[in-house]
Amino acid sequence: MKRSEFIKLGALVSAAFTVLPSKVVFGSPNGKLRLGVIGTGLRGQELLRLSLQREDTEVPAICDIQPVMIESALRLYDKANKPHPVIYSKGDYAYRELLARKDIDAVIIATPWEWHYPMAMEAMDAKKHVGCEVIMGTTVEEHWDIVRKSQTLGMQYMMLENVCYRRDIMAVLQLVRQHVFGELVHLQGGYQHDLRDVKFNDGKQPYGGGVEFGEKAYSEAQWRTQHSIRRNGDLYPTHGIGPLSKMIGVHAGNRFTHLVSMASKARGLHEYIVQHGGKHHPNADIKFQLGDLVTTMINTANGETILLQHDTNLPRPYSLGFRVQGTKGLWMDLNRSIHIEGITQAHRWETTDEWFKKFDHPLWQRYGEDAQGAGHGGMDFFVVNAFIQAIRNDEPTPINVYDSAAWSVITPLSEESIAQGNKPIDFPDFTDGRWKTMPDIFANSDRY
Ligand SMILES: NC(=O)c1ccc[n+]([C@@H]2O[C@H](COP(=O)([O-])OP(=O)(O)OC[C@H]3O[C@@H](n4cnc5c(N)ncnc54)[C@H](O)[C@@H]3O)[C@@H](O)[C@H]2O)c1
Repeated sequence: MKRSEFIKLGALVSAAFTVLPSKVVFGSPNGKLRLGVIGTGLRGQELLRLSLQREDTEVPAICDIQPVMIESALRLYDKANKPHPVIYSKGDYAYRELLARKDIDAVIIATPWEWHYPMAMEAMDAKKHVGCEVIMGTTVEEHWDIVRKSQTLGMQYMMLENVCYRRDIMAVLQLVRQHVFGELVHLQGGYQHDLRDVKFNDGKQPYGGGVEFGEKAYSEAQWRTQHSIRRNGDLYPTHGIGPLSKMIGVHAGNRFTHLVSMASKARGLHEYIVQHGGKHHPNADIKFQLGDLVTTMINTANGETILLQHDTNLPRPYSLGFRVQGTKGLWMDLNRSIHIEGITQAHRWETTDEWFKKFDHPLWQRYGEDAQGAGHGGMDFFVVNAFIQAIRNDEPTPINVYDSAAWSVITPLSEESIAQGNKPIDFPDFTDGRWKTMPDIFANSDRY
């Protein structure tokens, strides 16, 4: 389906929505997609590396403000045997020079959260499609702005939510689509990852180590911890909610209606600083706002409940904590087990190994080998592939601007709920009612 047909189907789009003529954005003489990458930190480097491996894509321009990150990015060009790009690195707004180039069709944004909104807005103004890392904006209004900008200018915006493409999750999606769990009733997920200790040694000096953040730190510890100082909400909802929303057809006949969030006390970061830096370390005086465990419950129009947890400041092994439960059975990722009434032994878990082989998604069967070596067990390959293929073919991205907004807006909504004493907060309907009729195009072919 062409993007323009999809838009019509989803329909009666605001009068302002301009449908781009097919292929209008590609001026590349060799038909390759020309990407710019803004933010070549740790995440940007992986997205860049995957883009440089492709025959259908060129990355002639990159932007970052830290020489150490630019140097690492250039090494990726050398490894891929590709000519070095033009580099934009002079100051926080150097990305505007990249956006001013006429020979860039789309950008990948992998900067700190607070930069995503202005960079994406300006990229769309400059007629670039946007693939943006997790988090669209920091306020509800910013989410509306991105949705309206995308509609008005006809530019695509895809949140690069890689967990939607995790192999076990895609097998579960197949099981869901074949009604093996019956009718879905309840789902769980989240971001549960001990992030207290982001450190790195580039051979010249050690950076970070959890106790330090801001300028003395490395990579995300430079900026992420700042959010824990002043914000209290589910700061990173999309790894959990993205895959779950695709299982319950959000924006294909379903939508989130409202949420309630609760935050525990904040102890983890302070204790870590005292333990590793001593009680006289300057950071030991900081009063962190972010509750160590933030729990959010979401209701949907079709009556499912969803439980999301954000848990990054306490000791724990990594787990996204998925659970998908219906009238006939359930799957949980932590114990890699499934239970289906009448098929698996009564009251017993069964390992998912055979199930996941049988229900392996066609995308993984097709691209599994290409994905080997890609980040996060291969799923990063798929999210880059989906973005690039959709944009190149002038087709709708499988994660669209409405999905991206509804997943990401959980952060400011959860902050509001907590600030108001755990009050239920309504979700905005970014689709203006079109969620009822939009088709489900996520991973329903073996193309992307
Ligand atoms: N999907 C995933 O699995 C995944 C994993 C890690 C990070 N992320 C997301 O990726 C994004 C980046 O995270 P990261 O871990 O790479 O952080 P990082 O700090 O390693 O990288 C961010 C980069 O942005 C650069 N930057 C900052 N301000 C800039 C500006 N004004 N102009 C240009 N460059 C600027 C920094 O110099 C840095 O190199 C975040 O949104 C993060 O949440 C996603």
